[in-house]
Amino acid sequence: MNGLLTLPRVSLAVTPTPLQPAPRLSEELGVEVWLKRDDLTGLGLGGNKTRGLEYLLAEAIAQGCDCLVTGAGPQSNWAMLAALAARRCGLDPYLVFYGSPVPVTGNLLLDQMVGADVRFTGDPDRASVDVAIQTLADELRVAGRRPYVLPRGGATALGAVGYVRASLELAEQLLAAGLTPSRLWLATGSCGTQAGLVAGARWLRVPYQVVGVTVSRPAEECVARVLDLAGAVAELLGDRAGRLSRAGVRAPLAGRGGRGPAGRPHRGRLPGPGVLGQGHGLPDRRGPRRRSRRTGRVPGDRRRPDPVQRREVGAVKEAT
Ligand SMILES: Cc1ncc(COP(=O)(O)O)c(C=O)c1O
Repeated sequence: MNGLLTLPRVSLAVTPTPLQPAPRLSEELGVEVWLKRDDLTGLGLGGNKTRGLEYLLAEAIAQGCDCLVTGAGPQSNWAMLAALAARRCGLDPYLVFYGSPVPVTGNLLLDQMVGADVRFTGDPDRASVDVAIQTLADELRVAGRRPYVLPRGGATALGAVGYVRASLELAEQLLAAGLTPSRLWLATGSCGTQAGLVAGARWLRVPYQVVGVTVSRPAEECVARVLDLAGAVAELLGDRAGRLSRAGVRAPLAGRGGRGPAGRPHRGRLPGPGVLGQGHGLPDRRGPRRRSRRTGRVPGDRRRPDPVQRREVGAVKEAT
């Protein structure tokens, strides 16, 4: 796993992020719940994407790129953090959003403040972003620029390495706190975060299952993406360290048997159906009601309610 040490990385995140107990939620659910506070990663408004961006921006710099092109929805945490990270590293951010122009609030306002070049596809289909990113990158190349192009969510093997590293950080915290959790819950969108955690769990032989709750894509699509990306991360790091293999990651993910070399279960549970709401950015009537009743007011909820609400709704459904 020396790849973790030798892969180029720029420092963007404030780590380690705290691992904190959630006493009220634990009491209400009757299970001990701890929170890994990756909303406190420090760049901009924080969030999970910063860890992957440390590796991605390092590659962009190594390739001599002068701008970054990516996209998502107009309130995307990913796009906001990618734009901030690009600026931090001296690259010009270009963002492509699906749909038509919307009022400039929240993350879109931050995108504007950081001077990102923002464009809309005019098509409400999320996937319209994928083609538009490539088209814009081609235009920039013709204009003499050197774009670093990233897909929605930064969901690449290199980006997912950020959560292999986070797995190591978490393992150290769990050891120090004397905790052996049975499950690690997360929101899953473009699937890079879960893939990194699954690869990390496999490598570290942790006691917990990685359970993703899909916030956007159909569960079956997430399954395929997590499998592919976790395998690619394993290859990326395994090639360098010779420890991980695609087969080694696929087996626990498939859920057949699910026991690691040490006999411990470390299955990668896949995003379950039935927790998707009305759509991205739309309040889910199950989410806010449950959330306020079970957890009280938590700073940051309004800022990014969707994945967090769905993760909690999924966790509550599973645990109760
Ligand atoms: C707060 C939060 N959690 C989780 C996710 C999902 O991460 P990923 O896109 O890597 O699956 C996102 C991204 O959509 C997010 O903004």
